[in-house]
Amino acid sequence: MDAVRIYGGNCLHGQTAIQGSKNASLPILAATLLINGTCEIENCPDISDVYHMQRLLESLGCKIIRDGSLVRVNTEGLSECDMPADSVGVMRSSIMLLGALLARIGSVSMEYPGGCVIGARPIDLHLQSLRKMGVVTEQQERGFSARAVRLQGTVFRLPFVSVGVTENLLLAAVLAEGVTVIEPAAKEPEIQALCDFLNLAGARIEGKGSGRLIIHGVEKLTPVRFRVPADRIVAGTYMCACMCTGGSVFLKGAPAQDMESVLACAREMGAAVECAADGILVTGPACERLPGVLKTGCYPAFPTDMQSPFMVTMAVSGHSGQIEEKVFENRFRIVPELLKMGADISIRGNTAYISGQGKLHGAIVQAEELRGGAALIVAALAAEGTSIVINRHYIDRGYEDIVLHLRNLGADIEHA
Ligand code: UD1
Repeated sequence: MDAVRIYGGNCLHGQTAIQGSKNASLPILAATLLINGTCEIENCPDISDVYHMQRLLESLGCKIIRDGSLVRVNTEGLSECDMPADSVGVMRSSIMLLGALLARIGSVSMEYPGGCVIGARPIDLHLQSLRKMGVVTEQQERGFSARAVRLQGTVFRLPFVSVGVTENLLLAAVLAEGVTVIEPAAKEPEIQALCDFLNLAGARIEGKGSGRLIIHGVEKLTPVRFRVPADRIVAGTYMCACMCTGGSVFLKGAPAQDMESVLACAREMGAAVECAADGILVTGPACERLPGVLKTGCYPAFPTDMQSPFMVTMAVSGHSGQIEEKVFENRFRIVPELLKMGADISIRGNTAYISGQGKLHGAIVQAEELRGGAALIVAALAAEGTSIVINRHYIDRGYEDIVLHLRNLGADIEHA
């Protein structure tokens, strides 16, 4: 079955190695399309979103070889083809191929991308911005086509900060004619990793992490070997699992420098957090009341992807708390499931009011998206009794073998 069974109540102890970042790997894999030859991407997580991105690249004529966590992408056979609709539909990052393909072969037709159902998540700003670079788009029956002779650098004053739009425009701009300015640009560490990858390959991007990116178009990029940074969201999820169950876990390789807002929140909730050069030691439980409202936002603010695991942490903390979701309008989908486990949470507008119960109980619950699904597993680890989390495939999109990782930390958990 597509589910996970958890017998709750075990404290987590030990060490777990944090996988490479999903949100960095996906745009970097898309960026290999800009380079003729073979790029080697190290520390690429073995998760289903990466698998789908690999399939998409293969459908475009690339040859891909995975050797452990090293992925080699040879783009010499790149040509315009139909991308498999199931892979385009399953994840939003397929939109990233648009900027890269327009830059490299000047023509794309694809279905509308999918991804987690955490809000409307339109692609209007992607298309509108690319049009400003000279792209002509056309609506088709189930998707759209886009073409350009040569992309033109331009100055963007975007109406809001978007991770995906910043990445797409970066991919479009590195080989464009002239200079492109992206403002406000997203500052997420995954975007900084994409800039590092592209600059290593010969791009000329200035201002990474500053909110204003200046890209001087170059004629060509050359193949490189690049290591994907560790996944701050996966690290934060295991941190919440430790805070909810008590115990002490060393998150090996966790990128503390990218997790300041999350670590500050964990400390305020009473967890002990010690940062070392090679990872983070977290010791639970989190039993303090979080003062004020926890608000999600663009980096360096508290990440929306950590909102669900922290909601669970509050629900088991025994204190009340509030979370305001400011990025996605539909990101409280785990609340009805947590209520089945005995949580006391109500929602008004984009704010969740959590009355910490001290304890949850086991239940059969359903994951409806990636991070919410992982958060339900965290809740089940801390709950009394047995839980089943249905729809494991959502969690597999972003977590490398979460069952094995948690079992190695002492959780009583199995595939069901
Ligand atoms: C990325 C991350 C996701 C994270 C999110 C916010 C990846 C693969 N995914 O998603 O994990 O939760 O950033 O940190 O890196 N929007 C529009 N029109 C557009 C584009 C976006 O209205 O054309 C809106 C979205 O609906 C959302 C907001 O902008 O409300 C921010 O979304 P965006 O930053 O683009 O998120 P993603 O790139 O989809």
